[in-house]
Amino acid sequence: MVDLKWSELPFGYIKTNYNVRAYFKNGNWSKLEITDKEHIDIHMAATCLHYGQEAFEGMKAYRGKDGKIRLFRWEENWKRLQNSANGILMEPVPKDLFFEMLKTVVLKNEEFIPPYGTGASLYIRPLLFGSGVRVGVKPADEYTFLIFVTPVGPYFKEGFKPVKIAIIRDSDRAAPLGTGTLKVGGNYAASLRGGERVHAEGYGAPMYLDAIEKKYIDEIGAANFFAIKDGTYITPKSSSILPSITNKSLIQLVEHLGYKAERRPVREDELSGFEEVGACGTAAIISPIGEIKDLDSGEVYKYCPDGKPGPISTKLYETLLAIQYGDMEDPFGWVTFLD
Ligand SMILES: Cc1ncc(COP(=O)(O)O)c(C=O)c1O
Repeated sequence: MVDLKWSELPFGYIKTNYNVRAYFKNGNWSKLEITDKEHIDIHMAATCLHYGQEAFEGMKAYRGKDGKIRLFRWEENWKRLQNSANGILMEPVPKDLFFEMLKTVVLKNEEFIPPYGTGASLYIRPLLFGSGVRVGVKPADEYTFLIFVTPVGPYFKEGFKPVKIAIIRDSDRAAPLGTGTLKVGGNYAASLRGGERVHAEGYGAPMYLDAIEKKYIDEIGAANFFAIKDGTYITPKSSSILPSITNKSLIQLVEHLGYKAERRPVREDELSGFEEVGACGTAAIISPIGEIKDLDSGEVYKYCPDGKPGPISTKLYETLLAIQYGDMEDPFGWVTFLD
């Protein structure tokens, strides 16, 4: 195992041993290629550079107490990448190739999978892009798919604590009939302005409202929104948010734990009536929210009066983490072992 300060690792890039690549050309996918090169050789007229033909995924491998390597719901990431590829007319990656590359890249970099108990994990970044040459706006006829990994530290270095977020109205990350449900780079480019603005004002992430009426809650930065009220888990239904795999899992988990779950449009003015609110995604699982400020109206919504995350958010966070690291039995069949 490499010698790294696992618990102090940032959510950033650290060079590992290998990455894996495959190429779609003349109507066929190549075999996977294993390389230690960190750069890609790309034609200057490739569609990914000009027309944003690019999609990615974000997932993690975890090492359990038993030393075994675990993946969490990898098929869901493959399906979402499939959906992103279809949405912007790219060649989808076959499931067998996706899994073969995933397994290879994780096992080839085994020494970078953080030890159990450090709170760290191996972040996995699959990336698909149009590498074919076009000058007019048209889909490419050649694609590159690669997966790299990098170890990342625990998201909350100071523990599971409430964060502050801000509602913004001066930028949208996606339009209702646009690409918001896809994990494509353009949405992230569109979110940079909002993200940087709220960071500069001291907030952890921006809350986006629906692009048409600015009345319904869409997403929070790169995470889905959820709220708890009267024992019900409530999360937005919207045609401009990314279908989070963590959120989908929390819905199943909450129902398994005996609570109710609702996926429906959620109005901003409901915020004052919620008992707990949070953001969910692969990076942090759950970021409990202690305060939401509407930067236009000045309205402030407060949660966690004792400074601690609410009981249901805490239970969900601990249970999902325990399933991912194998501390608890996985009743859903979400975990794939990689040895
Ligand atoms: C815009 C956006 N929303 C939500 C999520 C959370 O999705 P997941 O739970 O699949 O990580 C992410 C992260 O992937 C994201 O980038």
